[in-house]
Parts: sequence; C-alpha cells; structure tokens
Amino acid sequence: MKKNKFLVILCFVFYSLLYSCADEKQAQSRANANHGLELYERMCANCHQSDGSGFVKLYPPLKNADFLKNNPKALFGIIKYGMIGSIVVNGIEFNLAMPANPKLSDKEIDHIVEYVQIRFLSNSN
Ligand code: HEC
Repeated sequence: MKKNKFLVILCFVFYSLLYSCADEKQAQSRANANHGLELYERMCANCHQSDGSGFVKLYPPLKNADFLKNNPKALFGIIKYGMIGSIVVNGIEFNLAMPANPKLSDKEIDHIVEYVQIRFLSNSN
C-alpha cells in the first residue's frame, strides 16, 4: 500500500516536470517568434508588407510563397546575404535586388525565420 502511494506521487512529480518542460519550450518558441515579428516589421515589412503579401511586381510575397515552400532551407541565407537575379514566385517574375543584412546576428535571423514560417507558411493561414 505504501509502495503504491509512493508510485502515485512519483508519477505525479514526473508528469508535472514533463508538463512544465513542454510549457517552457512553448513559451520560449513564442518569445522567439515575437522577437522575430519585431525584427520583421523593422527589416522586412517595408518591402514585403506586414501581411507578407509583397508589393506589386517589385517585391515578391512571402505568404504562401511557392518559392519558399520549395526551398525551405533558403530563407536564412536570403536574409543574411540578400538576393539578386530573376525569380518566379507564385507565377510572377521578380527581378530586383534584395539587400543583405550584415548587422543581424544569426540568432536574430533564426527568430525572423521562425516568425516567417509560423505566420506565412503554416497551413492554418
Ligand atoms: C528593399 C526591399 C527588401 C527588403 C527590406 C527585404 N526584401 Fe526580401 N526580397 C526583395 C526583393 C526585390 C526580392 C526578389 C529578389 C530577386 O529578384 O532575386 C526578395 C526576395 C525575398 C525572398 C525570396 C522570394 C520569396 O518571396 O519567397 C524571401 C524569402 C525574402 N525576400 C525574405 C525577406 C525577409 C525575411 C526580409 C527581412 C529580413 C526581407 N526579405 C527584406 C526585397 C526586399
């Protein structure tokens, strides 16, 4: 009987630890995406717009962009080094240079990537 009680308590402790870990991870991910949002508004929204829709034939959309869906690993490099040359996004051709962001740290870029993925590329949008 005593042993059972001990087991129940042990399970309880285990589950609450597990639960708080998941919560912490979620909170961290939310904080990163919020930081990403702030950076996005400052560094990207001028051209790609806050809602990611882009701007006529000058700046390509990020929201549901087939280019990004087909090249999921390209985002980090595009933000860091910029982009040049003609590309087609969702059937429209774009051919202006996007500037590099040498002042952003890798961590800041990670946060922008996280934000862009959650906001513009997840299927719930
Ligand atoms: C000065 C305007 C400008 C700013 C600021 C800018 N971009 Fe771009 N971006 C462009 C242009 C122009 C292209 C197309 C480049 C080409 O034709 O090769 C592009 C292309 C892209 C692409 C690939 C095409 C697509 O739509 O999937 C991504 C992704 C992207 N930008 C993300 C970002 C992010 C994230 C930021 C902020 C860190 C940012 N851009 C800031 C102008 C800009």
